[in-house]
Amino acid sequence: MSKVLVTGGCGYIGSHTIVDLINNGFDVISVDNLSNSSADVLNGIEEITGKRVKNYAIDLCWEEAVQQVFEEHRDIKGIIHFAALKLVGESVNQPVRYFRNNLNSLLNILDGMEHYEVPHLIFSSSCSVYGNAQALPVTEETPLQEAESPYARSKQMGEQIIRDFSRVHPKHNCIVLRYFNPAGAHESALIGESPTNPASNLVPVITETAIGKRPEMMVFGDDYDTRDGSCVRDYIHVMDLANAHTRALQYLMAGKNTDNLEVFNLGIGEGVTVLEAIQAFMKVTGTPLYYRIAERRPGDVVAIYANNDKASSLLGWAPRRDINDIMRTAWAWEQKRSR
Ligand code: NAD
Ligand code: WQD
Repeated sequence: MSKVLVTGGCGYIGSHTIVDLINNGFDVISVDNLSNSSADVLNGIEEITGKRVKNYAIDLCWEEAVQQVFEEHRDIKGIIHFAALKLVGESVNQPVRYFRNNLNSLLNILDGMEHYEVPHLIFSSSCSVYGNAQALPVTEETPLQEAESPYARSKQMGEQIIRDFSRVHPKHNCIVLRYFNPAGAHESALIGESPTNPASNLVPVITETAIGKRPEMMVFGDDYDTRDGSCVRDYIHVMDLANAHTRALQYLMAGKNTDNLEVFNLGIGEGVTVLEAIQAFMKVTGTPLYYRIAERRPGDVVAIYANNDKASSLLGWAPRRDINDIMRTAWAWEQKRSR
């Protein structure tokens, strides 16, 4: 069993990825300081997989503590580095905190990787690195535009740091995964997204409104140049996203990569409008949703969705779930966590 270090393993995408890794025979340890999560998620993972994952509740910016984990686990074969602060709006007001956390944690991981000769790294990046992309769908070759926030810039910088690292470390293999809009939860509703209050991403806002935590929700703009006037995004189910990490690791371990740094888009490859997402929720759950058309949200791009051909052809990855599955599982999770 290959041992994988998952950073941010108690978070939303990290916890779902741990489930997929365990189901595919990997041995997992996690490092998560619980700054945006709870160790309770480890119970959910155990209930689903039958395996108890050990989490080191340390800050990845603390170099000695990180080294201690590598020292204790000299057999780590791969790292999946999720840990980061991720709130776009917050990053605008706290740029230094975002750069310090997201970059120092990455630097300590790269140091550990080099020193302890860990061969493989998967890095969580984001479609936000594309900024206001000029052409759709975006491919991995689409030029990156000026970052719209310190958060997005921290991801662009993270990618650049990994690029420079990979140039001088040809024996280390890195994959950068650019996620589009992750949403939904594990089928069991034992794990899911626990957004910081108040939630700002569309799907948790929908489920929180439907369950009554908010009286109504706002649709930010219906006068865009799109098929119904609302913004278009590429919503990818978190379990499909999770599986792409397992495949990326297997791809590197099998030596199938042609370069020691490769980049993949992870989206379903189709755009869904905000109003379509709301309709999908109401149809799938049979639950009414009170929404109101509001002003455009500053900083929103009109439309973005992925070309995912590269992940499909090289990783053999195909998303199996759609917006209906996202709404169904997100709703089951909301009902469970609100009990
Ligand atoms: P999350 O906040 O649920 O998980 C991140 C985890 O990292 C949290 O549990 C947090 O406690 C931990 N963490 C943060 N800083 C840490 C530090 N210094 N030391 C130790 N642990 C630390 O976020 P998520 O949605 O699971 O996102 C995972 C990754 O994917 C992030 O890098 C994020 O930027 C990226 N991403 C997320 C989305 C999204 O919409 N969720 C989209 C694109 C990219
Ligand atoms: C989706 C659509 C909103 C809430 C963000 C980050 C991005 C990435 C994914 C990390 C937009 C509309 C939303 C609401 C609404 N994260 N909306 N009412 O902005 O596409 O992407 O998460 O890497 O970097 O920027 O996601 O879920 O906030 O918004 O109408 O109450 O839903 O305007 O069109 P976004 P989102």
